[in-house]
Amino acid sequence: GTPASTSTEMVTLTIDGMRVSAPKGSSVMRAATLAGTPIPKLCATDSLEPFGSCRLCLVEIEGRKGTPASCTTPVEEGMVVRTQTERLQALRRNVMELYISDHPLDCLTCASNGDCELQTQAGAVGLREVRYGVAGAEVASVCGAHHTQDEADHSNPYFSYDPAKCIVCNRCVRACEEVQGSFALTISGRGFEARVTPGQNQSLMDSECVSCGACVQTCPTATLVEKSVIQLGQPTRELITTCAYCGVGCAFKAE
Ligand code: FES
Repeated sequence: GTPASTSTEMVTLTIDGMRVSAPKGSSVMRAATLAGTPIPKLCATDSLEPFGSCRLCLVEIEGRKGTPASCTTPVEEGMVVRTQTERLQALRRNVMELYISDHPLDCLTCASNGDCELQTQAGAVGLREVRYGVAGAEVASVCGAHHTQDEADHSNPYFSYDPAKCIVCNRCVRACEEVQGSFALTISGRGFEARVTPGQNQSLMDSECVSCGACVQTCPTATLVEKSVIQLGQPTRELITTCAYCGVGCAFKAE
């Protein structure tokens, strides 16, 4: 869920009644995964600095108010954490419902069907019903522009960017910055108005994108997808190779 801590000092805490030891500096999310009780998540990954934006990984911590995000909360000695209470499960379903209400409902024909974290996590939190109308129509009328009508950008020769499927988890923006050291992607606006945009509202081709693919690899939906996957479907086998284009050494998936 979040990057490993390099500390050799261990911290012991209790998660859902189980005593768990994790290196100091680990997130509560990582400690929960170590304990075998993974917490639902969308914006956190093992390789990117936690951002705490999707609010799916909320937990309860004894002695603390509210429901902090487990991905951005470091473990502390003696901490008592609950990850699966009814309140948390209801909160997560509500959060997921809002995401799905602003997302196209074309899973069966989507290039990422079966390989989509949004789809997986919607199942994991037990979302069975979306009360806000199909694809955000009702939410949009209250909150302004929704994503489902945004136009796709196919200008990059290797991958497509379809903002209609974006949940603004910021993983692509962080991958561009943390993996490639570029700033080709940025987030503009807030709430339902928030959008990932290449540069100053340029096309991907006109931005400083070098087509490293780090954003595509980390995208949890079909917002950033390789064109080969759109045309040919998901590969049946994968080869991980390293690009020699620059000194960064980004790993690429190839069919
Ligand atoms: Fe923690 Fe998104 S995974 S807020």
